[in-house]
Amino acid sequence: MGLAPCRGASVDAGGAARRRVLQYKARVTAVADPRLSGRVLKRVAFDEATIARRVAELGREITEAYPDGQLLVLGLLKGSFIFLSDLVRNITRPLQVDFLVAASYGDGMVSSGTVRLLYDPETELEGKHILLVEDIIDSGRTLNRLMSLLEERSPRSLEICALLHKRIADELHYETRFVGFDAPHEFLVGYGLDHAENFRHLPYIASLQ
Ligand code: IMP
Ligand code: MG
Repeated sequence: MGLAPCRGASVDAGGAARRRVLQYKARVTAVADPRLSGRVLKRVAFDEATIARRVAELGREITEAYPDGQLLVLGLLKGSFIFLSDLVRNITRPLQVDFLVAASYGDGMVSSGTVRLLYDPETELEGKHILLVEDIIDSGRTLNRLMSLLEERSPRSLEICALLHKRIADELHYETRFVGFDAPHEFLVGYGLDHAENFRHLPYIASLQ
């Protein structure tokens, strides 16, 4: 790929050298990735294997949490599309899948606070266990809006499953029952998360420079 070899890694001893090698490898992954069209990533926050392990665990947690009744897994598009597709394949009980489309961010990296519903699920929600699947909780405004809207449809239960939680959502009035990872306070892309619609297809989660 025309990248310089990892010089000095074998002669330096101790943790600092190992850390440098790991940082170097993370950088090389980013630079060498043809999916980035030249954009540089700061670091890979969660790699593919780590995500797969945690999603499998979440699937088991969810399977055990819902012993009976109809379960509707409601993915919030577009950000949850990859997470949701991996998650439902790790839930070993009957379920249905539908989606919600809400627009909240525009092209920026800061929450605008505005949430618009562009697609409403067609599936009946009344009497079902609803599991709302979100990619990342930042300010919590999106979920506040959507949860109050879904509560009005008389579900049997209503819970949130978020892949990532920044733990800064002071305004979120609802508990997040299932969380994949606590997220660093950086703007993240990949595994469904975008910046201006780019980078959703990265198999790992990384922060942008
Ligand atoms: P909130 O309403 O501020 O909680 O924002 C939630 C939505 O903003 C998520 O569904 C994402 O679409 C988007 N978002 C928040 N933080 C990030 C991020 O770090 N990377 C990509 N999208 C984000
Ligand atoms: Mg989103």
